[in-house]
Amino acid sequence: MVRHYKLGILGCGAIAEILLENIILKEKLENILIAGVYDKNPNAAEEFKKKFGVRIFEEVDDMIKECDIILECASQEAVFQYGEKILSNGRSLIVMSSGAFSNTSFLKKMRGIAREKNVKIYLPSGAILGLDGIKAGKFSELERVELIVRKNPRSFKIRDEKEKVLYDGDAKRGVSLYPMNVNIASTISLAGIGFEKTRLKIISDPKVDRNIHEILAKGSFGEFRIKIKNVTSKRNPRTSILAAYSVLALLERLTSELEIGC
Ligand SMILES: NC(=O)c1ccc[n+]([C@@H]2O[C@H](COP(=O)([O-])OP(=O)(O)OC[C@H]3O[C@@H](n4cnc5c(N)ncnc54)[C@H](O)[C@@H]3O)[C@@H](O)[C@H]2O)c1
Repeated sequence: MVRHYKLGILGCGAIAEILLENIILKEKLENILIAGVYDKNPNAAEEFKKKFGVRIFEEVDDMIKECDIILECASQEAVFQYGEKILSNGRSLIVMSSGAFSNTSFLKKMRGIAREKNVKIYLPSGAILGLDGIKAGKFSELERVELIVRKNPRSFKIRDEKEKVLYDGDAKRGVSLYPMNVNIASTISLAGIGFEKTRLKIISDPKVDRNIHEILAKGSFGEFRIKIKNVTSKRNPRTSILAAYSVLALLERLTSELEIGC
């Protein structure tokens, strides 16, 4: 069954821009209708109206009324601000700022509302690879999941001349010390063995220019190690462009009669 969705976009930044370029300008997902955008910064929304001809919602409440599904690509603050309201109104929610769910009691509450309202919360794979293997491997004895983040020292606002391990420990403490990695660490922890058991290593490396993520998983299924060298957005150098493409892939999956991968 092919489904059509009216999508509302919360946040007019780097991710939304790539999404709208593909959906509106390149007409890549014909079953997705963009209902409109909302941003707390009216200039950001105005820029998108000019560039893509999208409608601007003055209030998030109006966007919720008119959409089937909302994409949050704004901030953790936006997830806390609007998440419960979106689900309570019977709308599914795609969350890019998955770091909000490192607050596991908030996640529990959100899941409860989604269950009650028969809607879904989607966390796209974002800037990382290997979630399919972690999700499938979880059904075996998954012993170890590790994320190794390697970035140029300027990403950490430091000046190192040599490679240096900044953190090596559990993801729970790691995301509080280095919140800039909170989205990927949260998505991996939630997909696999949780924040306490997932290992996080953060390396400052002056030899690299891209954000490099390595994901290792080991269990009774076997083991894998995946490495990605992410290209970052010019609009927001903290954001890997693959994150936006992962939303497009999720939307394609939602609207297609064929699903590939778990
Ligand atoms: N899951 C992942 O792998 C992944 C990857 C990249 C980015 N992200 C996250 O996705 C989010 C969006 O990324 P981006 O690069 O597009 O950000 P961006 O900074 O380029 O744009 C965000 C936009 O959202 C708006 N905004 C922020 N808080 C808001 C609020 N409370 N209400 C309304 N508007 C609000 C801002 O004004 C801005 O225009 C960020 O939280 C980022 O950390 C996740």
